[in-house]
Amino acid sequence: MKTFKIFTAKSVEKLSRFGRPLRRTQGLALLSLLITPAWSQNSVPAASAASDAPTYLRDIQPIFMGNCSRCHNQQSRFVYNWLNYPTAYADRWEIKRRLWDSWQGRYYKEAMPIANSPESFSISEADRLAIKNWVENGAPKGVVPVGVGAKTKGERIIAGKKLFNSICAACHQASGQGRPNVFPPLADSDYLNADKNRAIQIVLFGRQGEVVVNGMKFNNNMPSFPLTDEDIANALTYVYNSFGNSGLEITPEEVNAQRSAKPQAVSTPAPKSEFE
Ligand code: HEC
Ligand code: HEC
Repeated sequence: MKTFKIFTAKSVEKLSRFGRPLRRTQGLALLSLLITPAWSQNSVPAASAASDAPTYLRDIQPIFMGNCSRCHNQQSRFVYNWLNYPTAYADRWEIKRRLWDSWQGRYYKEAMPIANSPESFSISEADRLAIKNWVENGAPKGVVPVGVGAKTKGERIIAGKKLFNSICAACHQASGQGRPNVFPPLADSDYLNADKNRAIQIVLFGRQGEVVVNGMKFNNNMPSFPLTDEDIANALTYVYNSFGNSGLEITPEEVNAQRSAKPQAVSTPAPKSEFE
């Protein structure tokens, strides 16, 4: 039987969903004590000796959300949706070959994410390694990790920053500045600050079509993400309290209230994807 190994402190940190600590093998216990931030130490049960192989819901789906979902999503008709576990599981060996072997020049088909896409610059070696290890360890589904249980605005901002950097930053950039003509800015965004329920709905349901942010026109596609109310509240609280935005706090209850609301944010018909 193969044992799963984690090589560097950096990959250990990456291999937890939004900074939620992993269960660790004994060998890693000391290391992880050193790198686990104080705020999260009392939110997890003690480490068990259980397998440390990456799981889909905890470690891999977040990588897919940030680095693949603009092309591989529920709406795309010509490429697979990796946010769906059965689809990702069925094609896992090809995923490994495109993410790992092609990238190292050992497989003849195009490396993923597609060369020169913003995603190809934002995906890290630790992400690729996590995907390789996940596939080689049987591609387990796992369970959605228990939330960090943030109660105060300060705790939400800390948890939200992890999530933002692991998912949203692939497109909107860690600086919140976005990318001209492709991804609108969240920094000082007049559009974001004008309507918090609309912002919640965009993260819940995605958004397609034309949008004008700070006087600049965008016409692109943000997929919807399978995130919990707590995750979305934390991410948006971080965004609202960063990059010169208005300082609002968003609660999981407010997110939940929008789940049943009729999407108002989707203003124009979805454009054809760039691959159609
Ligand atoms: C910029 C758009 C884009 C991004 C981002 C992207 N892909 Fe792709 N992907 C494509 C297109 C287009 C194809 C079909 C062409 C091809 O097979 O090379 C494809 C094909 C694939 C295939 C082959 C599927 C099969 O069995 O035929 C895999 C596997 C794959 N992508 C995985 C990924 C993963 C995993 C990510 C994220 C880490 C990713 N891709 C990011 C556009 C993208
Ligand atoms: C795959 C790329 C991608 C990811 C990942 C992504 N977005 Fe977006 N986002 C977009 C695009 C593209 C638009 C504009 C959509 C349109 O043209 O209608 C957008 C629009 C927005 C807007 C409204 C416009 C603005 O600038 O104020 C908000 C708010 C937003 N995103 C928040 C988030 C948050 C929070 C996350 C992480 C949970 C996130 N996005 C992840 C691509 C992405």
